[in-house]
Amino acid sequence: MKAIVHHTFGSPEVLHLEDVPTPAPQTHEILLRNHATTVTSAETAGRQGKGFARLYFGPLRPRFEILGSAVAGEVVATGAAVERFAVGDLVVGGVGPRFGALAEFVCVAENAAITRLPDHVSWAEAAAVADGALTALPFLRDHADLQPGQHILVNGASGASGAVGSAAVQLAKHLGATVTAVSSGRNHDLVRSLGADDLIDYTREDFTRSGKTYDVVFDAVGKSSYARCKRLLTPTGRYLTTVPSLGILARTLLTSRSKRRRGSIAFTGLRPLAKVAEDLAYVISLVESGDYRPVIDRTYPLGETAEAHRYVDTERKRGSVVITIDPGPER
Ligand SMILES: NC(=O)c1ccc[n+]([C@@H]2O[C@H](COP(=O)([O-])OP(=O)(O)OC[C@H]3O[C@@H](n4cnc5c(N)ncnc54)[C@H](OP(=O)(O)O)[C@@H]3O)[C@@H](O)[C@H]2O)c1
Repeated sequence: MKAIVHHTFGSPEVLHLEDVPTPAPQTHEILLRNHATTVTSAETAGRQGKGFARLYFGPLRPRFEILGSAVAGEVVATGAAVERFAVGDLVVGGVGPRFGALAEFVCVAENAAITRLPDHVSWAEAAAVADGALTALPFLRDHADLQPGQHILVNGASGASGAVGSAAVQLAKHLGATVTAVSSGRNHDLVRSLGADDLIDYTREDFTRSGKTYDVVFDAVGKSSYARCKRLLTPTGRYLTTVPSLGILARTLLTSRSKRRRGSIAFTGLRPLAKVAEDLAYVISLVESGDYRPVIDRTYPLGETAEAHRYVDTERKRGSVVITIDPGPER
């Protein structure tokens, strides 16, 4: 089968299209003919072997030579003990902690965070759902405990146009909150179309000096800090970021139980797969009901994955960057 492989850390040039053996499903696995995946900023950091990413992606050389975490495809074979899925089923989800979706075929555990793909959701949309939303939802619902009527500020809302930010704006609205979105002006139309109530252009003003206060400040792109944002919090307000630093790791440990202002980070990739699968089915149902729109910036064919990585490295993507693989039956 064809797959995008990298044997060393580095620039997008380390990514190569290679012929590799098609995996065979183990007892509790399914084999998928893969039609779409995404390139996330977490994976491009993993490709570069940058900073904290080395802890997970490999200290000396890539632990996962085939990246890609979202999968949207068709079951073409199952392991002997598989009951949840059958050949011909169309599914969407995450391949789990070992990546491997930048390939024509991928094996996924039966109990992985995957769910059936309903009609009218394209392969590309499906892969994009398995991107930002599965990070934004647990941050807003579990860590921020966002309630109807509360006021949230989403930084990186053009991140609001990034994968996590664009999901956070829509899901925060769906949870009944008032949303102030911080993005560059060029993304204001997009962020407003996602439901944001107020918009701040961070290229023109410092949103931490607005003098306003919020129940939640969610930094979807990790470009601010608790120290800069705590003045924006109500006395019981919560600051959340997606990007680790020693400061926020310490604060997470020290203040996680406080009823007063606090700051924290979460690592949504480490959540129990069954919980992630529940969230996936929930967000897919919102797509079906028109309450959630996966934002797709660009799509690239598998052979141009290095180009896709080069674009994500700019930190200017709006929504998800999707890789289409063997487009398969029209949807
Ligand atoms: N902790 C976790 O569990 C977890 C899980 C997944 C991802 N992450 C992390 O979450 C972060 C966001 O991921 P993503 O895929 O959504 O990122 P992304 O799509 O690459 O974010 C791109 C967006 O960020 C905005 N942006 C860039 N610099 C900014 C700044 N200084 N202030 C405000 N916005 C800025 C850009 O909008 P403009 O062009 O308008 O500036 C762009 O639309 C990544 O660092 C990723 O590693 C963490």
